[in-house]
Order: sequence, then structure tokens, then C-alpha cells
Amino acid sequence: MLFAATLASLLAAASASPGGSGTCWADTTAIAAASAMGANTPSLGIFASVPTGAMYTAGTAVPVTITGTGTFEGILLYAIAGPATGDSATTSHVGTWIGFNSTYQTLDSTVTAPVANCTKLGTHATLSHTSPIEKTLPVTFNWLPPPNAVGNVSVVAVVVIGQTAAGAHAFQVAQTSFGPSSSPNAVAAATTSPTPSSAASRNTHGAALSATWVAAVAGLASVSALAAFL
Ligand SMILES: *[C@@H]1O[C@H](CO)[C@@H](O)[C@H](O)[C@H]1NC(C)=O
Ligand SMILES: *[C@@H]1O[C@H](CO)[C@@H](O)[C@H](O)[C@H]1NC(C)=O
Ligand SMILES: *[C@@H]1O[C@H](CO)[C@@H](O)[C@H](O)[C@H]1NC(C)=O
Repeated sequence: MLFAATLASLLAAASASPGGSGTCWADTTAIAAASAMGANTPSLGIFASVPTGAMYTAGTAVPVTITGTGTFEGILLYAIAGPATGDSATTSHVGTWIGFNSTYQTLDSTVTAPVANCTKLGTHATLSHTSPIEKTLPVTFNWLPPPNAVGNVSVVAVVVIGQTAAGAHAFQVAQTSFGPSSSPNAVAAATTSPTPSSAASRNTHGAALSATWVAAVAGLASVSALAAFL
């Protein structure tokens, strides 16, 4: 009876949580709070990159590739204007993610808690997974720039890896920056300066996930374990 009740609550949780990040941004101030997965782990070897010399133009998607070895379970992916060091809970996510399949979703107002509703930062601007099923690296996503250039942009990716069958996870934050190919507005000074290419791609050390993301991933791990059990 107790088992049946537990199963029922897990199933309820599963149907209420289709999967996806519980946070809209890579919370770099919550390293200590992310104890369930430890701190950001650069040794996982996750990188985000765009083609060498890539610059963006309105209407033309830029392929963003996440590289590494093996598989991953969760991802949070978005672009902001300016350097990644300027990221915060209220930083707008620029551009939109297009052309992905049902393995992924953008965190818009149709998502159901505990998956984060990131509409306030931008519509179709924050990409995540839809389930914790193992996904093989590398994986490429298409970022459609905003109608008007916003100067240099930084793509920020948080990738969650399942480490053991028991549900232990680790994560890494990676980023890459690139600039616009033209500057219809004054802010786009990158056109008169060396434009960062994929050589600027690098891992960001010292970043962590927020507690909400940890909770969401922990919940997904339970759902995954249940599915395997059934
Ligand atoms: C979705 O795309 C990913 C890679 O982008 C691929 O690995 C996966 O098989 C695709 N899933 C479906 C259902 O097509
Ligand atoms: C998601 O957030 C947007 C913007 O804050 C809001 O308008 C919308 O109602 C939210 N969606 C849900 C389902 O709460
Ligand atoms: C864009 O990035 C390049 C290379 O890092 C830099 O020289 C330039 O100052 C940046 N532009 C702006 C507006 O920050």
C-alpha cells in the first residue's frame, strides 16, 4: 500500500514535470548551493562553439555546437548581449532557437512547473531538454539572431551529465562569444574591432547551477529511475 502510494505520487510528479531546466540562467553566485552536483566541473570537457570566424546577420541562423564525450541528460542554452560575465537572473536572452526536435523545447509560457518559464527574458530564447533521456555529444543547435544587431553576444550553455546509475550528476558551464557582421545600431562596436571567433570559445570556471535546477534534475532522475524500474 505504501509502495502503491509512493508510485502514485511519483507518477503524478512525472506527469506534472515533463522535463526541462528549473532555472532560466546559469547562476554563477550559487556554487555552494549546488551541492547536489558539486561545483561547476570543467574537467567534464564540455565546450560551446560557433564556426571559426562566425559573425551574425539578421535572418541567418548561426550553428552552435556543444562538444564533449559521451552523453548528457540536461541542457540550458541561451544567448545574451555582451560578455558572459554580465549574465544575471534578469539579463535578457537575445535571438531565438529554431529547428530543434522534440528532444528539446524552448522555455516559454506553455511550460509547466517545475520547468522554468523564461518568457520574461525572451520568447523562444531559452532552450532546454524535454526529458532526461541520454543524448549523445556533440549536438548542434541553431540560433537565429535578433532583427537588430546587439553587438557581441555570448552563448551560455549549462550541460548536466548523469554519472552513475544511482542518479549522481555533474554539470559544466560553457560559453562562446561572437559579434555582428554589420552594425545598424551604435552599440555594435565589434565591427571595428577584431571579432571574436570560435578561438574565443572557452569554458567558464566557477559557475554553478541554482538550487531550482538541481531540484528539477533530481526530480527527473527519479522519473528516469522509475521508468527503468517499470
Ligand atoms: C533529435 O535530435 C538529436 C540531435 O540533434 C538526435 O540525437 C535525436 O535522435 C533526435 N530525436 C528525434 C526523436 O528525432
Ligand atoms: C510565463 O511568464 C510570462 C511572462 O512573465 C507570463 O505572462 C505567463 O503568464 C507565464 N506563464 C504561465 C503559464 O504562468
Ligand atoms: C566585441 O568583442 C571584441 C573581441 O573581444 C572586442 O574587441 C570588442 O571591444 C567587443 N565589442 C564590444 C562592443 O564590447
